[in-house]
Amino acid sequence: MDCQDSNPPDEVMCHCSGTTRIEIQRLFEQGLVSMEAISRRTGAISGCGGCEWDIAEMLNQLADQQQEVSSPQPGQNGMPNP
Ligand code: FES
Repeated sequence: MDCQDSNPPDEVMCHCSGTTRIEIQRLFEQGLVSMEAISRRTGAISGCGGCEWDIAEMLNQLADQQQEVSSPQPGQNGMPNP
């Protein structure tokens, strides 16, 4: 079994600012859901800009996950079947 996580929480997403994946995730959970807000708080995306697409993709994934959690499909409410 492969135990390596392809998206480790301490992965540096922005090398210019040293912003990690978990930092961005925590800020997202606190309501900073836009690139601008993340950039203002962390300094990410304000250097070379090379992290822009990766961070945008991550924010999209987090938004998708949040949407799935907040609006479960019928029969997919996370409850075990009786
Ligand atoms: S890697 Fe994020 S601004 Fe350079």
